[in-house]
Amino acid sequence: MENNSEKQINGEEGTEQQEQKTAEDIVDPWNVQASSNKGIDYDKLIDRFGSSRIDDTLLERFEKLTGQKPHHFLRRGIFFSHRDMHRILNLIEAGKKFFLYTGRGPSSEAMHLGHLIPFLLTKWLQDAFDVPLIIQLTDDEKYLWKDLKLEQCNKLAYENVKDIIAVGFDMNKTFIFSDIDFLGGEFYKNILRVQKHVTFNQVKGIFGFDESSNIGKIMFPAIQAVPSFSSSFPFIFGEKKDIPCLIPCAIDQDPYFRMTRDVAPRIGFQKPALIHSTFFPALQGASSKMSSSDENSSIFLTDTANQIKKKINKYAFSGGKDTLEEHRELGGDCEIDVSYMYLKFFMEDDSRLEEIRQQYSSGKMLTGELKAELIKILQKLIAEHQERRKVVTDDTVKQYMTPRALNFTIQK
Ligand code: TYM
Repeated sequence: MENNSEKQINGEEGTEQQEQKTAEDIVDPWNVQASSNKGIDYDKLIDRFGSSRIDDTLLERFEKLTGQKPHHFLRRGIFFSHRDMHRILNLIEAGKKFFLYTGRGPSSEAMHLGHLIPFLLTKWLQDAFDVPLIIQLTDDEKYLWKDLKLEQCNKLAYENVKDIIAVGFDMNKTFIFSDIDFLGGEFYKNILRVQKHVTFNQVKGIFGFDESSNIGKIMFPAIQAVPSFSSSFPFIFGEKKDIPCLIPCAIDQDPYFRMTRDVAPRIGFQKPALIHSTFFPALQGASSKMSSSDENSSIFLTDTANQIKKKINKYAFSGGKDTLEEHRELGGDCEIDVSYMYLKFFMEDDSRLEEIRQQYSSGKMLTGELKAELIKILQKLIAEHQERRKVVTDDTVKQYMTPRALNFTIQK
C-alpha cells in the first residue's frame, strides 16, 4: 500500500488511516480478515481508526432519549464504535432533527444475514427518533470493482431494494436511490466539490488505490460521501445545507467516511456522525465476515428452511469438544462458537441467551442442541422476511425511489 504524503487528511480521523493493515487484522471496504478465530480485535480497531467506543454513558443517553431499552445490537456491543454520536444525541435533546444515511452495494441477487445488521439498527433508529432516511444503492461501485455488466448491477440494485424495503422502513420518511439512475443536479454538484478537495495521493493512502486502479474507482469515494450532506437532496431538505447526518454501517465502510469527515468542513458542510457494527461472521468462523462471494459461508435471505438447517448443521463452526465425555466435562467455548455468536445477533431474549451461554459453557448443552435453537430462530426470521418481501411490488419500489418531499419537520 502506498504511503500517504499528504498527512492533513488524517486530521482527527485517526492517525493511521493510510495503514489498513496494522497488527494482523485486515479491515477495509473490500477485505475483512482476522488473525484469530475469535474474530477481529475491535478494541485495537477503534484505536487504529481513531473512533470512540460505545460505552455505558452513551447507552444511558439512548435509553433516556428514547424512553426504551436500547436495541440489543447496542446493549450487546454488536454496534461497538461511533463518531460524534453525542453531537447527534445533543441535538435530539434540544428538540432538533437529523437524518439517517446508509447503503448497499448490489453485487448479488440475494443479500445475506450480515447485510441485514446495519439496516435493522437503522430501522430501530428511524422509529425511535422519527427521522428521514436516505439509502444509497452503489450499483456504479459494483460495476467498477466486480466483473459484472453495468445493466446487471443496475438490475441487482432493484432486486436488493425489495429486501431493503422488506425491513420495514417508513415509506413517508425514506428515499432510496440507485447511483446509476440518480446522479445529477445538486447531488453531482456536491460530488464535484468533494472531488476538487481530495487528491489522488489521499485516496491512495486511504483506500490503497495505485496507478493501475481504474479511474472510476479513484473518484468513486466522492459518490459514497455526498449523501451525508443534506444539500444533495433539495427535494427533501430544501435550502438547508446543515442538517446533520448519522450513518449506521459495519466498520468496513469507515474509510469512506473518514475521507468525508475530513473534506466536509473544507467545503462548508457538517461532518457526518457514524455508528459502526462488528461483522456478522462467516459460518466457518469469526476470522472472516459473512460474504456473498462464498456461498457456503453465508445464509441468504432467499434460503429455504431446509437450506438453513443444513448449512448450520454442516458448516457452523463449533466451540464444542470432540467427544461427548469431554464436552460434558469441559463445556463448549462460546467465544469461538459461530452458532452462539449468531444467537447473540438474533436471539432477542437476554435471559434465554444467558441461560444458553451458561448451559453450553458448562457442558450441560450440546452443540446439536445449541444449533437447533439457532435454526428455529433463523428459519422464522427468514420466512417472515420472505413473506414481507413477497408483497413488495414494482409500484412500491417506485414510490420509495421517487425523488420527493418526505414527511417530517426539521425543527420540532
Ligand atoms: P455492502 O453491500 O458491502 O454492505 C451493505 C451494508 O452491510 C454491511 N455489511 C455487514 N455488516 C455486518 N456483517 C457483515 N458480514 C457485513 N457485510 C456487509 C456493510 O458495512 C454495509 O453497511 N459501499 C457500500 C454501500 C454503501 C453504504 C453507504 C454502506 C453506500 N453508501 C453508507 C453503508 C453506509 C457497500 O458496498 O455495502
